[in-house]
This record gives sequence, structure tokens and C-alpha cells, in this order.
Amino acid sequence: MTLSDSADAPVNEVVLEAVGLTKHFPVRKRLRDLLTRTTAAVHAVDDVSFVLRRGQVTALVGESGSGKSTVARLLAQLHPRTAGDLLLHGRSTRVRGGRAFRAYVRRVQLILQDPFASLNPVHTIRYHLTRSLRIHGNAGRSAEDLDKALADLLTRVSLTPPERYLDAFPHELSGGQRQRVAIARALGADPEVLLADEPVSMLDVSIRLGVLNLLRDLKERLDLAILYITHDIASARYFADDTIVMYAGRMVEGGDSETVTKNPAHPYTRLLIESAPDPDRITGAGDAADVGGAADADRGHGEPPSLISPPSGCRFHPRCPHAMPRCTVELPPRHDIGDRPGHWAACWLYDPATVTAEGPGSAAPDADPSVPPPPALIRQDGTASVGDAR
Ligand SMILES: Nc1ncnc2c1ncn2[C@@H]1O[C@H](COP(=O)(O)OP(=O)(O)OP(=O)(O)O)[C@@H](O)[C@H]1O
Ligand code: SF4
Ligand SMILES: [Mg+2]
Repeated sequence: MTLSDSADAPVNEVVLEAVGLTKHFPVRKRLRDLLTRTTAAVHAVDDVSFVLRRGQVTALVGESGSGKSTVARLLAQLHPRTAGDLLLHGRSTRVRGGRAFRAYVRRVQLILQDPFASLNPVHTIRYHLTRSLRIHGNAGRSAEDLDKALADLLTRVSLTPPERYLDAFPHELSGGQRQRVAIARALGADPEVLLADEPVSMLDVSIRLGVLNLLRDLKERLDLAILYITHDIASARYFADDTIVMYAGRMVEGGDSETVTKNPAHPYTRLLIESAPDPDRITGAGDAADVGGAADADRGHGEPPSLISPPSGCRFHPRCPHAMPRCTVELPPRHDIGDRPGHWAACWLYDPATVTAEGPGSAAPDADPSVPPPPALIRQDGTASVGDAR
């Protein structure tokens, strides 16, 4: 699809859909394993489902090792998937190199964290962009067409005047400028989807906002569907329409970014928000000191689990301050939270049976005035709020 074609497509149309995506990396076998015939694997991503829509940014948030980059690589079809499906405009797609892979990459482009590593230091910016335009058939028919396409690409990412950058080498640019070149190279394919894997985490804080604003501007002007991967849930609220939270390879919460960050439901999301350097910018609470103090009441503890033998039931249970016996054995399904359409959490706290069986408010998180109580508990409870039950 070209840019002119995409202008006719409906707004918010689903472009790419992950359905139960799963990736297990086999662990190298040792002699002992051969004898016992065990096949250990890293459960990097399990049963991940979400959609990317035209003109929308979806943030994928989680701590290191939670599987974010693996999801991006599965969407880019750089890893074969263990299970699940990937639908491009509703059609199942699986490509393994060759012409089909090039056609897929034309639509779905990946931007990596480290712009220096992704650009070849011995080649100029002109070389990188020309190569992208040529590979994807967007270089035009003449030298003039190519010059115009190169100038357009650099102008789109605000590297102007273009002639100042075209013959520069990557090391002659700043980190932010290099990331803009990497984005321009991705745009050379005229894609519909951008997978941005921590695109600003290696940049100086002062230039991060500029690159995020550029991506937001491109989303609006080119109607791109963007997956924004980050550790920083605060930036997800600023930049993304929807936010998905991952923990140990599984999705644990999702919804519109404002609701997920202002009214987090899953204990892990609350932990992520409380660990953010400046909680005030997320919760909107006036007194940051208060927020930090109250956070202790609901803070999970411990380390992320091994993904070779992940915890049974809810993977967060060894760290969760609200874990119940069933959490250790039963995998929690998604429960609608009910405060805003599309807000869900995979947590037994929101199961109507948990609340009814254990009494009103019994499953509620500990007292924490800075963090809103789980809305589902208030709804189920009917008479007593979570605050009353404490
Ligand atoms: N090619 C691979 N072979 C084996 N294991 C892998 C491979 N790629 C990733 N993993 C494992 O999968 C898990 C998820 O890794 P991934 O890179 O997706 O996490 P991440 O959330 O992107 O982390 P970070 O925030 O540090 O980038 C980790 O335990 C990692 O060691
Ligand atoms: S399912 Fe249980 S262990 Fe998991 S986050 Fe919810 S309360 Fe905690
Ligand atoms: Mg990563």
C-alpha cells in the first residue's frame, strides 16, 4: 500500500494483529539433558494478543527481560514464532526470507534502540537512505527523482537543509540526529507500521522529547500504526494512545494510556508506576513525597522470575503483595476493569468469585491513598468501598 492508497483507508483500521503470539527459545542441550530427554526453553513470550491501528501509537511497557523486543522481532518476522498468528490487514502471514519477506518489510519497519549500531559507520547518510529507497522501489526513475526523494525523507524527520546531512557519516551526527536518520531510512520503505524498540532510551534526556514528538507528528501526518516499546511508563502516557504492560513474557494489563497510568489495576503495573523516578508526573498527585511513602504499602518485592521454568499460575505471584492461594496454580484470564472501555487486567483480584468468596474488599490492595483502588472491587462490593474495608 502506498501513502496515497493509505489515505483512503478508514481511520483506526487494524493494520497488524498479534493473536496468541508465543516464542520459546530452546536452551542449548547438555549431555545430561540428552540422557533425560528434557528440552528446556526460555518462555520469552506467551500468548500475546493485541492490535496496531492506523494513526495510533500502542506502547508496550515492562521491565528488562519481560519479552518486549522478542514481541517486536516476532512482529517484524525476524524470529519464527512457536505458536500464534500474525494478521496483516486480517490475513494470516508467515514469511521466511526472500521476496515475501521484502514485501512484508516494506509494510512493517523496525527501528532499533541504538542508532549508531544500526547505521554502517563507513557509509554516508546518502548511501543508507538511497539503499532503503531502492530496495523498496521508492527511488524513482531518474537521478532527479532520487534527489527529491532523499530531500523529502530528511525534511520529514526535520534534518534540514538536507544537503547539510546527505554526505555526512554517522559519527558526524549527534545521537538524536542519527536516530532521525534511522527513522528516515525506515520511512524510505513507505511503511504502514513502525515498530520502535526503545527508540529514545540511548539518547540524552534533553533530545528524547524531540524524537518522540517527531514520531507523533509522523503518526499523524502519515497515519502510521506505531508500536512504542519502552521501560518508561511515564513516556507511554505522554506519547501513546494505548498501553500494554508485560511481565515475564505475558501481557498483564491493557487499555487506553491515560487509564492504565492514572488508574492502574494490576499489582505489577502499580509497581512499575511507583518505581518511576517521578511518580508525580504519572499520578498527578500534588505531593510527591506522599506518593513515594504510600507506595511502600503496595510495592512488590523480589526479582523477575526465571523464564526457563516460570512460576505456575500468575507469573507475578512470587513478588505480589496480594497473592492468594489460587494465584500460585491458576493462570488469571483477562478481566474487564469496567472504569473505561477496553481496560483489562489479568489478575484474580478482579474475578467476581474472588470478591464474593472472600468478602467485600478482602482482595483489595493494601492501603495506599495515592493509588486508586481497583474499580472492579468497588463495583462488585456495592455497599463498602475498598477504603471502608481497610
Ligand atoms: N535469541 C535468543 N535466544 C535465547 N533467549 C533469548 C533470545 N532473545 C531473547 N531471549 C530471552 O528472552 C527473554 C526476553 O528477552 P527480550 O530481549 O525480549 O526482553 P526485553 O523486554 O526486550 O528486555 P530489555 O528491556 O532488556 O530490552 C530474555 O530472558 C532473553 O534472555
Ligand atoms: S493474580 Fe494474584 S499474584 Fe497475580 S497479580 Fe493478581 S493478586 Fe497478584
Ligand atoms: Mg529489549
